[in-house]
Amino acid sequence: MIKSIEWVGGHVRYIDQTKLPSDEVYTKTSDYRDVAEAIRKLRIRGAPLIGIAAAYAVALAGMESRKLESSKFVNEITEAIDLLAATRPTAVNLFWALKRMKTVLSLNDNIEIVRTSLIDEAIKIHSEDIEMCKNIGENGSTLIPDNATILTHCNTGALATGGDGTAQSVITTAHKQGKRVNVYADETRPLLQGGRLTTWELMKNGIEVNLITDNVAAFLMQRNKITLAITGADRIAANGDTANKIGTYSIAVNAKYHDIPFYIAAPTSTIDPAIRSGSDIMIEERNIEEVTSIDGKRIAPDGVKVYSPAFDITPASLITAVITDRGVFYPPFDFSK
Ligand code: MRU
Repeated sequence: MIKSIEWVGGHVRYIDQTKLPSDEVYTKTSDYRDVAEAIRKLRIRGAPLIGIAAAYAVALAGMESRKLESSKFVNEITEAIDLLAATRPTAVNLFWALKRMKTVLSLNDNIEIVRTSLIDEAIKIHSEDIEMCKNIGENGSTLIPDNATILTHCNTGALATGGDGTAQSVITTAHKQGKRVNVYADETRPLLQGGRLTTWELMKNGIEVNLITDNVAAFLMQRNKITLAITGADRIAANGDTANKIGTYSIAVNAKYHDIPFYIAAPTSTIDPAIRSGSDIMIEERNIEEVTSIDGKRIAPDGVKVYSPAFDITPASLITAVITDRGVFYPPFDFSK
């Protein structure tokens, strides 16, 4: 399994996803600010992985602040948490993990104990995610028939999580169970997570994959070439409306029109019970350069205006089921059970 992130000897080691697939570069740091920057720049990306990385970053902040007296220690860690919370707004896993780390801060007055507890909590968040990925794979694979041709979007594999992935865990589990699966991976502009990362991971796992540009999916559905579509999620509202990588909504609309099941796969940490519906989810907007250039090469005229939302909202009415580590949920969605 690819180790997207690791806690090694008081450092965080992560694979720099902006360099893939041409270079497999691992970066090691003991500075929480580097981790924040890596999240902002998408060297570390994918909702569950962002949460795990942020938790490790808070543990690093705890180590850095070890000599401070109690109130200063809490201030320093709170500053680190605030910096990390400002990196990316949409994936709730980030805020979920930071909230857990903040709780640890208030459990003891002894700095040495808190420092160790912060590390323990970050490691726990990571190992829980590994378990959640495994359960998502097992729960979701029951929905995958033999000989399935599966459409997916963005990257939802080991690179996006601490374990085997979310939607991708469903695919790899079905494959391991001996089912024949064939994947169409959307390239996922502007940052090409599908073209660069999903294809790389699936090929490593021996799963047949065709890379398609983002506008091919509807045509494949019209030609009866897609059995089902499955994606991950960055935040799921209480009513089931789901934020995921920009382009997910069009897949869901097209799937509905062609009567094809559309599944979301996500860990419990991606469900946000505090958000009633998708319209309340904050959508990140990205830099215009990500659209006007590819790999540093300019592809649009200087001065062109750009609109680049990183995510969209798929309404619950278009989602056949949400596959989680706790089981498969069907509409009307009620995640409190
Ligand atoms: O901008 P990214 O690459 O962080 O967006 C990632 C996605 O949209 C994924 O589909 C989502 O986080 C689920 S990953 C298990």
